[in-house]
Amino acid sequence: MEFKEELKIKIDEVMKLITPYIPKESGYQKLVMEAMNYSFLGGGKRLRPMFILESYRFFGGKNPEEVAVFMAAQEMIHTYSLIHDDLPAMDNDDYRRGRLTCHKRFDEATAILAGDGLLNYAFEIVADKMDKEEDTDRLKRMVKANKILSAKAGINGMIGGQVVDLISENNPNTDKETLLFIHECKTAALIESALMIGAIMAGASDEEVSKIEKVGSNVGLAFQIQDDILDVIGTQEELGKPIGSDAKNEKVTYVTMEGLEKSKKDQEDLTKQAIELLDGMNHSNEFLKELLLDLVTRKK
Ligand code: IPE
Ligand code: IPE
Ligand code: MG
Ligand code: MG
Ligand code: MG
Repeated sequence: MEFKEELKIKIDEVMKLITPYIPKESGYQKLVMEAMNYSFLGGGKRLRPMFILESYRFFGGKNPEEVAVFMAAQEMIHTYSLIHDDLPAMDNDDYRRGRLTCHKRFDEATAILAGDGLLNYAFEIVADKMDKEEDTDRLKRMVKANKILSAKAGINGMIGGQVVDLISENNPNTDKETLLFIHECKTAALIESALMIGAIMAGASDEEVSKIEKVGSNVGLAFQIQDDILDVIGTQEELGKPIGSDAKNEKVTYVTMEGLEKSKKDQEDLTKQAIELLDGMNHSNEFLKELLLDLVTRKK
């Protein structure tokens, strides 16, 4: 089967597993659920839940239902980060996932609350699942996975990276070390989280979990470099979000620091290293490898 065809099937599989977890739109507070689901269901690539599922399979996991709640929670956290990232106080962008951003479709207050709502709901659905879990071994794995889910999204992960991204705006003296910190935290952290959660739920050893974390770090950095590249040479039509957002906000990016050529090369090298790390482990998942390679040339 062609990779693109397989990818479509995988996205459908991810959507089937995560959509049952979205909140019902009802009650006096219905507006916030509508805004949450509006952003959640827009045309995202579903990469993070896919990484959970495929890492779980890489480490021998056989029952996708075991990871479904984490897939949904991880995508909710990612979606919240996008809603807040697009707010006027942050990147101030009007389009996301091929539609108006949450604050444009609704309003700023609703978008802030929809982001908060998704973040909180992510942990609510995981806590609910843990509360009902009767298998103590699985419960232990879930507690571990939940710890990663929270830490990687927090002040030493995604939020930490977003803060430094914002305070580095308009600062042409930002050094490479700071840029790498931003990329590692704002983007790689959630990708590490996804790969680690899949591994933990499949029963991988601590050593294997730290190896897959390293894979995530390389993939995440490569992913953000390509995001920076596409902000310059991509098209809004394909990306579903505006190009030129970084220049508009005078962001320091991998491209402003290293230029397009070197960015491209570093991105490819990081992906190669990630694949070598995967190959060095005693497991395999052809689709996961192909997915990483596909990301190198992605246009969206
Ligand atoms: C966008 O992430 C934000 C970054 C970390 C670069 P994605 O490119 O994965 O966005 P969606 O989920 O496909 O919309
Ligand atoms: C944001 O990086 C990463 C997040 C944590 C949302 P960007 O600001 O470059 O992401 P895009 O380009 O708006 O998707
Ligand atoms: Mg941003
Ligand atoms: Mg942005
Ligand atoms: Mg970007």
